Amino acid sequence: MSSGLQQPESQPMSTSGDQPTREMIAILDFGSQYSRLIARRVRECRVYCELLPATTIMSDLQRLGAKGVILSGGPDSVYDENARHVDQDILDSGLPVLGICYGMQLLAHQLGGKVEPHTGRREYGPAEIHLLPPDVGAPPDVGALFTGILTDEQASIPVWMSHGDSVGEVPPGFAPVARSTSGTLAAMADGDGHIGIQFHLEVRHTPQGGELLQNFLFNVCGCSPNWTPGAFIDEAVGRIREQVGDDGRVICGLSGGVDSAVAALLVHRAIGDRLTCIFVDTGCMRTGETEQVVSTFQTHLGIPLVAVDASERFLARLAGVTDPEQKRKIIGEEFVRVFEAEQQKLREAGDYRFLAQGTLYPDVIESTSAADAAAAQRIKTHHNVGGLPEEMPFSLVEPLRYLFKDEVREVGRELGLPEDWVWRHPFPGPGLAVRVIGEVTSERLDTLRHADTIFIEEIRLAGLYRQIGQAFAVLTPVQSVGVMGDFRTYSSMVALRAVTTDDFMTADWARIPHETLARVANRIVNEVPGVNRVVYDITSKPPATIEWE
Ligand code: XMP
Repeated sequence: MSSGLQQPESQPMSTSGDQPTREMIAILDFGSQYSRLIARRVRECRVYCELLPATTIMSDLQRLGAKGVILSGGPDSVYDENARHVDQDILDSGLPVLGICYGMQLLAHQLGGKVEPHTGRREYGPAEIHLLPPDVGAPPDVGALFTGILTDEQASIPVWMSHGDSVGEVPPGFAPVARSTSGTLAAMADGDGHIGIQFHLEVRHTPQGGELLQNFLFNVCGCSPNWTPGAFIDEAVGRIREQVGDDGRVICGLSGGVDSAVAALLVHRAIGDRLTCIFVDTGCMRTGETEQVVSTFQTHLGIPLVAVDASERFLARLAGVTDPEQKRKIIGEEFVRVFEAEQQKLREAGDYRFLAQGTLYPDVIESTSAADAAAAQRIKTHHNVGGLPEEMPFSLVEPLRYLFKDEVREVGRELGLPEDWVWRHPFPGPGLAVRVIGEVTSERLDTLRHADTIFIEEIRLAGLYRQIGQAFAVLTPVQSVGVMGDFRTYSSMVALRAVTTDDFMTADWARIPHETLARVANRIVNEVPGVNRVVYDITSKPPATIEWE
């Protein structure tokens, strides 16, 4: 294996334009596994969008100032008793509408065409589509989505299909635009901005999906690519000033990760030293992490910071605990206690009425989607760990609520966050406590820290850090026999975990070159006392999770 890993997928946001006005595209979610991906793709075209429930009505879109609508795919059939429909007023409003898969079938069904129920066979996988010769009397511009991409009648492009039902008869005023080689109607349009496509332009398996989407956004909806970090920062700063007022003060808990750091920077840009950050050292941080938080925030960025070394009390409570959920619970509870004590001190000294948090758009979507909530099983008590109590005497300031992770990075960079912080891998709230399998002791944490530092150092040296979504070492409770020099050893085994991922919901193990892995293993067994064996985790998620505990 000689090459590195896959390149990161997302396009950086442009920093050139800085019009503060933003145009908005509404994506109505009919339950497709790809709905969130559509939102990301639209943002990659530098157009602002929001993912909204299927039940959204026209007046909501008016209030939001939507310039166009995308209907996602979904598991329903238009003939199901409880099939979700789109508000007819949206279809009659004159707003451009792009229906994808089930979205196309909805257009057909609700505008007077015919959907053919599938006959037991689903079409799933790659397909080729070609343009159809224009119907006599077809409205002009029906092929607007394909302009510059699929021009020749003979030419075809590869797309990704995943559907059961399909459109058998287009509604009045529509023309069939493209068909797949297997005969499925792949696209239809009415020349007035209503377009249906049976394939999924949002997935990477439709290589020209981005260009098709740009045609819809720029040519059909008339949007401009002006959703830039500069535009976002101006808008966010204005909103924070308005919310906090002239004398309000804000507390921001820093985790050492990019989200809370960017949230703090934005608030600082808006209200200066009326922001104070709190950083709690749980004793389960990685090598140099606490020092880095202090030096970056206090020294480099000049942001008021209270750093609390609470490692002893955390470790005392973790003594003898081996159950992962128990570890999370203890760390969560201790964190809240320490944080509350610190914020109480601040509140006695000044009018700290606000709490800034680095909540991101995926968290917002997750917590507002009833279907997700119902379906979500508790695998690990993640995101409430290292978090804050539910009832706090604060108003929340959440300036990143509408951003995806890659956008947060762009904004962080624009705000002067150091590059290695911008690209830092996520780190769980309970920290190394869930990477020391078994009992968490100060000695075992030191062993893990040392091994982890070597792994990350070598990944950076190999130029792989940014292509990997998350990489870390795990200290296992396994002791195994080894030989060093002339001596038998009986010591610990360290596992290495590195994954590539788009969203951390699914992940694949990173194909790190063997030479790099060999160097890491060699260094760990030679440099870290008490470790004589290193293994590499080659499980994807699912079925495994990213963390071991
Ligand atoms: P898993 O292990 O579930 O992790 O595949 C997915 C992502 O979540 C992070 N993670 C956590 N984050 N508190 C956190 O704040 C936690 O308890 C926790 N457990 C896992 C994990 O690092 C990965 O990025």
